Amino acid sequence: MSGGHSTYTPTNGFTKWLDSRLPLIRVMNDNVTNFPTPKNLNYWYTFGAILTFCLAVQLVTGIVLAMHYVASADKAFASIEYIMRDVNYGWLIRYVHMNGASMFFLAVYVHMFRGLYYGSYKAPREILWILGVIIYFLMMATAFLGYTLPWGQMSFWGATVITNFFSAFDQVIPGLGSGVLEWLRGDFAVDDAAVKRFFALHYLLPFVIAGVVFLHIWALHVPGNNNPTGIDVKGPQDTVPFHPYYTVKDGFATAIFMMLFAVFVFYAPNYLGHPDNYVEANPLVTPAHIVPEWYFLPFYAILRAVPDKLTGVLLMFGAIGVLFFVPWLDWSKVRSASYRPVFRQFFVLFVIACLALGWAGAQPAEGAALLIAQVGTFYYFIFFIFIMPVVGLWETPRKLPESIAKAVLAKNGHAAVQPAQ
Ligand code: HEM
Repeated sequence: MSGGHSTYTPTNGFTKWLDSRLPLIRVMNDNVTNFPTPKNLNYWYTFGAILTFCLAVQLVTGIVLAMHYVASADKAFASIEYIMRDVNYGWLIRYVHMNGASMFFLAVYVHMFRGLYYGSYKAPREILWILGVIIYFLMMATAFLGYTLPWGQMSFWGATVITNFFSAFDQVIPGLGSGVLEWLRGDFAVDDAAVKRFFALHYLLPFVIAGVVFLHIWALHVPGNNNPTGIDVKGPQDTVPFHPYYTVKDGFATAIFMMLFAVFVFYAPNYLGHPDNYVEANPLVTPAHIVPEWYFLPFYAILRAVPDKLTGVLLMFGAIGVLFFVPWLDWSKVRSASYRPVFRQFFVLFVIACLALGWAGAQPAEGAALLIAQVGTFYYFIFFIFIMPVVGLWETPRKLPESIAKAVLAKNGHAAVQPAQ
């Protein structure tokens, strides 16, 4: 996987025998234990490991939930209550899965903003980034499908609103949108057929995500990690073996992350959810405000920022779609924003715009919230299609360190110490 030269030598008869048949230990040695990793990775770099942990938690808890859940419009809601009250530790498994989705998105947003800040999408890591965007898209699909399963009011109305997006295509070809909509739902409305197929797909997609994560890490291991300076590794003096240096750092960060996770699960398990989802789905009663989960709010704000439905839907998908082109939109020769004083300020504004969009998405689409959603949407797109290329050409970056090793020494106050030649 590393694509480089192997550092593994089998030491006994068994490992020699195994190595010539299935070089499992060699692959682990070259890609995990001894994988040369830049020595300056900071805590923002622990989120890849945290995400792997989140995916595993969702898979394990999801499989256990599926043993008790009933995918039918009649029984889904009651089966969730059964899990919560009667299944041994069912409440714990469900709360971990429910809050696990939020923790997963929290981690993925940190991971993505980190990638944007350090320019990790730039050559030679374009495919790594694109695989990440595919994972993100699959995560959104999985979370949406999962949220419909408890068959509460928000499940039902959320599913109705989101599937209704497709009806916007009636504006392009009359009948096209409603045809697709009926095909997706398997009925004229979100009902039993929809619950069954959403459950099947919600079970399937995490395994697809796991497959894409494998490719993502493979694509990471060909060029190796980027790092906070954004400069390339020049030799062994710039790296340390992944184990024990980063196994310990990643393990420590994951433990801290688990504490935050536990605070939600044990002290505020419903804080991130919506109370209406404890009311069984009722097609005859529309909730006063239909709001998605927090991690979809910025996109919801973009959707509602314009009055025209089709334009809103296209902008919303465009907001995700533009991420695929980021490696070619940034024309700067320098990767890391730490050395790009102008881009760095626009990046901070971008983070603020995303947070503001998130806030606006939770409000009714009127007055100040609507205005903020419009300004935020404008900045979101301008950032990618104008600021990124233009600032990349025009700004003068700060002087880059000569090597990762020298940057580390300078940071620790040993700038004058030169290694013996
Ligand atoms: C299930 C979700 C994901 C998992 C398990 C995952 C896993 C990882 C791991 C283990 C690393 C190496 C450690 C690190 O840099 O943190 C990594 C790096 C990276 N990931 Fe992900 N990732 C996920 C989602 C994403 C997404 C959604 C994106 C972007 C849209 C992304 C973009 C990147 C990039 C650019 C790097 C290289 C960072 C660098 O070397 O500077 N990843 N990922």
